[in-house]
Amino acid sequence: MSDHQAAGHADRRGDGHPADGRTLVRAAVFLGAAAGFRVEELLLDPPGPGEVGVRMLASGVCHSDLHVLDGDWERPYPVAMGHEGAGIVEALGPGVGSRPGDPAVGDLVVLAWTAPCGACPACVRGEGFLCADPRGAGHRRVAADVRLRRPDGTPVGVYSGIGTMASHQVVAVEAAIPVDPALPAAEAALLGCAVTTGVGAVLRTAGVRAGETVVVIGLGGVGLSAVMGAVLAGAARVVAVDRVPAKLELARALGATEVIEAGDAPTTQAELQWLLPDGADHALEAIGFAPTAELAMAVVRPGGTVTLVGMTPQGVRAGVDVYAFVERGIRLLGSNYGSAIPAEVFPELARQVVAGRLPVDRLIQERITLDDLGPAFEALRRGDGARRVVVFDPPA
Ligand SMILES: NC(=O)c1ccc[n+]([C@@H]2O[C@H](COP(=O)([O-])OP(=O)(O)OC[C@H]3O[C@@H](n4cnc5c(N)ncnc54)[C@H](O)[C@@H]3O)[C@@H](O)[C@H]2O)c1
Ligand SMILES: [Zn+2]
Ligand SMILES: [Zn+2]
Repeated sequence: MSDHQAAGHADRRGDGHPADGRTLVRAAVFLGAAAGFRVEELLLDPPGPGEVGVRMLASGVCHSDLHVLDGDWERPYPVAMGHEGAGIVEALGPGVGSRPGDPAVGDLVVLAWTAPCGACPACVRGEGFLCADPRGAGHRRVAADVRLRRPDGTPVGVYSGIGTMASHQVVAVEAAIPVDPALPAAEAALLGCAVTTGVGAVLRTAGVRAGETVVVIGLGGVGLSAVMGAVLAGAARVVAVDRVPAKLELARALGATEVIEAGDAPTTQAELQWLLPDGADHALEAIGFAPTAELAMAVVRPGGTVTLVGMTPQGVRAGVDVYAFVERGIRLLGSNYGSAIPAEVFPELARQVVAGRLPVDRLIQERITLDDLGPAFEALRRGDGARRVVVFDPPA
């Protein structure tokens, strides 16, 4: 029996594929902020040149998906949602498999929401996370890129070129990064966004060093990963801040040395200043809320580094007390995708997880199905729980 039959899809030929070679897919499709999303059955073409077909195993639910759903960020639709996932390579498009590092059929791959082009000025500088022309830009809605369609033929875009909340996807080969198959699928999925972003913000963007003091504000999948990154860096003190007490407990379990239950920003600031009268070496904001971005700037020591990771709705501004900022010589950094080159960072993070140095399993609050996505987004709105992970049906 094929994997597709095991996934319970109807098919017309008896092996899970419609007679024309396309694959039946179940996917969460964003329909615009007013309409929300719907789980739909779609048809997926085989991979073209430079592409691979992936049977998805797991997809995390990240707050960035909620930003899209809530209309905080302008995004096109209809588009298959999700950008944090892992799966098994099922098919190679023409020409794939010839270059070193190309995935092979059967490989466990983590999908990257930025797959650098390798040729633009940012890529040449070694900053592929700022690539001007990543594969999958435009959410694969250009005719030449479209592989996913409704049964009536309407093209469906693919969020960030990977649209991980789907049972199967076709992605650019550069976006499918092979990792150690010993890694459990749900954990592999989280490397695709939260872990790379949070750990990378600490190690790569901020450059936290052993013995330093780090404040992490906001303890979702990204902030808790930043806590793990600070522990990995050998930070002497890791102060974790969230308004949800259960998150504080989780942060402690991951190695935070102190925790603060957040109230309004001035109260939290006073508590942090009591705890760290000289200020922190580093503060990271992992919510995407202007008052907590300002809080991060207020609690670092002179010469300290503030790293903004959380993303607000588009157009939101935060204030800087310019005199104090300059006088105190503060450094303010934005961290996109943990300043990571996925092809290098995913395999390395996978090794750390498998070696037991990065307890990514602690981030998994619940394994769910595509049909449970509505309540999962509601929970994310409330700050309830770390990561929920959609798990797709295993093959027979
Ligand atoms: N920079 C990047 O490359 C990148 C990548 C992924 C996600 N993000 C962004 O990072 C942010 C966090 O993502 P996530 O998936 O971890 O989100 P999440 O919703 O799981 O976590 C946010 C946490 O902040 C807490 N919180 C909310 N308001 C608070 C307040 N006023 N004070 C203290 N804590 C508060 C919530 O309780 C929750 O635990 C989002 O804005 C997301 O879009 C950025
Ligand atoms: Zn994300
Ligand atoms: Zn580039």
